[in-house]
Amino acid sequence: MRSFSSSYGWALVVVVMLALPVAGDARDDVPEDLLHAKNTLSLSPKRIAYFEKQFRAKCARCHGALGDGAGSDAEKDVPPADLTNASLMSQRSDGQLFYQILVGGMPRCAMPAFGPESDHGWPEKKIWEMVAFVRRFSETSDE
Ligand code: HEC
Repeated sequence: MRSFSSSYGWALVVVVMLALPVAGDARDDVPEDLLHAKNTLSLSPKRIAYFEKQFRAKCARCHGALGDGAGSDAEKDVPPADLTNASLMSQRSDGQLFYQILVGGMPRCAMPAFGPESDHGWPEKKIWEMVAFVRRFSETSDE
């Protein structure tokens, strides 16, 4: 017969596992108004060229130049999201991607914040543009 305390112990293990960030997880603290927010910006060819450079300079060391998560600074315990993965990316709202770039990664994740209050100091419009740019990785690799 299983004792009460051993099943209680298992429940505790499950709770602790749920609390740890797992590779491929989105942040779970996205504010309600952002969670369903849609990006209304589209990028001109000139802005695309600009964000290609920005991505190479600020993101590629983790996410890889192709957005596939194979950058040289990628960590094994919390790997950078594979931005070319169309099924993963289709589960993310624009607002979720915006929030991740605004405030950076979850605890234990090395992704820095890029928002207006951060060292990078990007205005919100630039972050929405980066969201549009990031979407291109999974749109163009879906064939
Ligand atoms: C130091 C490494 C690092 C840098 C630099 C970095 N990221 Fe990340 N990024 C991560 C990691 C690790 C994750 C996955 C863990 C997480 O969700 O917190 C992630 C997750 C993301 C996600 C969320 C994907 C999802 O699953 O919802 C987006 C979007 C993103 N990064 C975009 C960017 C952009 C754009 C830049 C540059 C402006 C950037 N990252 C720079 C490490 C990095």
